Amino acid sequence: MKLCMIGTGYVGLVSGVCFSDLGNDVICVDKDLNKINNLNKGVIPIYEPGLHELILKNIKNKKLNFSNDLKSSVKKSDIIFICVGTPTKKGGNSADLSQIYNVAKDLSKSINKFKIIITKSTVPVTTGDEIEKILIKKNSKKNFAVVSNPEFLREGEAIRDFTFPDRVVIGSNDLKSNKILKNLYSPLIAKGAKYLHTSRRAAELIKYASNAFLATKITFINEIANLCEQTNINVDDIAIGMGLDQRIGSRFLRAGPAYGGSCFPKDTKAIISTADRFQTNLTVIKSVIKSNENRSKLLLKRVYRILNNKIKKKKISFLGVTFKANTDDMRDSSSLTMIPELSKKGSLISYYDPTGFKKDFKKYKNVQYKNSIDKCVADSDLIIIHTEWNDFKSLNFSKLIKNKKTIIYDMRNLYSPSKMKNLNIKYFSVGRTI
Ligand SMILES: NC(=O)c1ccc[n+]([C@@H]2O[C@H](COP(=O)([O-])OP(=O)(O)OC[C@H]3O[C@@H](n4cnc5c(N)ncnc54)[C@H](O)[C@@H]3O)[C@@H](O)[C@H]2O)c1
Repeated sequence: MKLCMIGTGYVGLVSGVCFSDLGNDVICVDKDLNKINNLNKGVIPIYEPGLHELILKNIKNKKLNFSNDLKSSVKKSDIIFICVGTPTKKGGNSADLSQIYNVAKDLSKSINKFKIIITKSTVPVTTGDEIEKILIKKNSKKNFAVVSNPEFLREGEAIRDFTFPDRVVIGSNDLKSNKILKNLYSPLIAKGAKYLHTSRRAAELIKYASNAFLATKITFINEIANLCEQTNINVDDIAIGMGLDQRIGSRFLRAGPAYGGSCFPKDTKAIISTADRFQTNLTVIKSVIKSNENRSKLLLKRVYRILNNKIKKKKISFLGVTFKANTDDMRDSSSLTMIPELSKKGSLISYYDPTGFKKDFKKYKNVQYKNSIDKCVADSDLIIIHTEWNDFKSLNFSKLIKNKKTIIYDMRNLYSPSKMKNLNIKYFSVGRTI
């Protein structure tokens, strides 16, 4: 099939590449010319394991193209996926849909034959209805169908998640596009993905409800971890004990820093805003947002206690700053709250991340990027393990630590407290008292 992805970011690029690998002809469009020029040279804009190889393979097979010409790319395609950003509106909670509606306006001028227009971006309930209203101004209703096909991939696991999804959700109010899309996804359905056809509005809400639920699970175990710290219980035991109940499941029950990333923070806010619009009060999700916003402050307070409130001139090293492992995405990472706060208090911060230097910390004079773990932690007073990269999971701290008084605060519970005790290292973690 002939596909066009509009917006070549994490979602548009990964899904476009994976669709091309399934044998479709795909054009990935972006308004960022620099990004398109780089992609045409095989230079990829994001860190995602396995993506580079797949791009090169499908460029070579002539299945994958990159362009910044939206109109001509749309004209050549039958199925159009909108994959642009839907960030939080400045000063509010709702999703800023300006990128979506700008694309819809451009699309309305480019429909030359029947097209299926799909929102793969996460969009609030009724966005599909609004897109339809924009398209109808310049086109006959017979010439297009607007469909919601939310994307559930996780950064860092994106190719696997795209290729072996738990489910494919298609929200369409017509049967023709459902039939075509079921066919498009048939290779994934054949490998075991469940296919769910719903109304367009239901598909839009499934995405937000799913993300809000996952954010709730993380927040829940984070709060239980707080209780564990006061009661001399290991939160990992609680997570295992709960997770073995199949009604609960073990995933997303790992205590740690506040959830971050490009989806959960903005999507939990946006669903609240949608509910407000429809005079509904989502009290559970509201308290999840509040609890998560407090989480970084809570972890910082623990840092202050660990350092006996003597923060000034203390050398603090961050291992990992991205919101999770296997991605370079810094959006809403809890390090963006913690590092500036510690910097303001006069500590001397160094950080190492496998995805390199982060421009987010450039303006802080006392925050320095180090290009290796040993340079980062050398002479540190406090090492904070912030992100669960594999690179940090089996470090030889006896060798790495030059300062005998170095303390470790492991925010991901990567190490065993008793082993650290045997090494004579003062060690703190999350939801575990020793
Ligand atoms: N990142 C994820 O893990 C993830 C997972 C599932 C769903 N989503 C959702 O998918 C959507 C996209 O997220 P992302 O992380 O890929 O965003 P992103 O910011 O990485 O990419 C968006 C891209 O769209 C381009 N763009 C914006 N307006 C354009 C236009 N008019 N024409 C062409 N290109 C345009 C931008 O230049 C950018 O490259 C969001 O709604 C997000 O919530 C993201």
